[in-house]
Amino acid sequence: MAPFPQLKTDRLLLRKFQLSDAPDVQRLAGAKEVAAGTFLPHPYEDGMAERWIADQERIHEEGTAVSFAITLADNATFIGSIGLNIAQSHRHARLGYWLGLPYWNRGYGTEAVKAVLAYGFGQLTLNRIYAPHFLGNDASGRVLQKAGMTYEGRMREHYLRFGRFVDLELYGLLQQEFIERT
Ligand SMILES: CC(C)(COP(=O)(O)OP(=O)(O)OC[C@H]1O[C@@H](n2cnc3c(N)ncnc32)[C@H](O)[C@@H]1OP(=O)(O)O)[C@@H](O)C(=O)NCCC(=O)NCCS
Repeated sequence: MAPFPQLKTDRLLLRKFQLSDAPDVQRLAGAKEVAAGTFLPHPYEDGMAERWIADQERIHEEGTAVSFAITLADNATFIGSIGLNIAQSHRHARLGYWLGLPYWNRGYGTEAVKAVLAYGFGQLTLNRIYAPHFLGNDASGRVLQKAGMTYEGRMREHYLRFGRFVDLELYGLLQQEFIERT
C-alpha cells in the first residue's frame, strides 16, 4: 500500500488524520453551524472523533474513501476535514468537507477542494467527482463554483436531516473537463 498522501497548497497542508486531532475534531465539528451543512453527528459526543479517526486507516486501505485533515501550513493548526467517498466500480467519488467556524470565509475551503480535485483526477484517476450540498448552504455552493465544478441540478427532498427532508444542489466535474481547464 502506498504511503498516505499529503497535499500541499499555498496556505494548507492536507494530511492523514491522527488520534491527537480528536479533541479539535470534536470541538470544531461540534458547532451547530458546522453540523447544519453536513451529516456530522450532533451533538458530537465524547469518543466519536476517536472512533471515526481510528476507522479511517482501514477505510483508506479498502479504497472506499480517503479523508484528509486540513491544517494550516504555517503553524500546523487543525482547521477541518475534506474527503472523497469512492466507488471504484464507477471510477467516481463524492466530495465532502467542513471547516471550523473560526476559519470560514478566508478561501481555505476553496483551496482544499481544488487540491482534492487535483488528487482525485490525477493520483486516483477518477472519471467523475460530484458534490452535493443542502439547498440554502450558499457558501458551499460558492466553493464548488469557485473550484470550477458544474451545477447539475436539484435532487428534491433527497435526504432527511434533523427531522426534515432537504433538497440537494448537485455539482460535478469530469476528469476530461478538469484536464482541459488546468
Ligand atoms: C462550506 C464551507 C466549507 C466553506 O468554506 P470557506 O473556507 O468559508 O469557503 P471559501 O472562503 O473558500 O468561500 C466561501 C464563499 O462563500 C461566500 N459565502 C459565505 N457565506 C455565504 C452566504 N451565507 N451566502 C452566500 N455566499 C456566502 C463567501 O463570500 C465566499 O465567496 P466569495 O469568495 O465569492 O466571496 C464552510 O462554510 C463550512 O465548513 N460549512 C459547514 C459545513 C458544510 O456546510 N460543509 C459543506 C457540506 S456540502
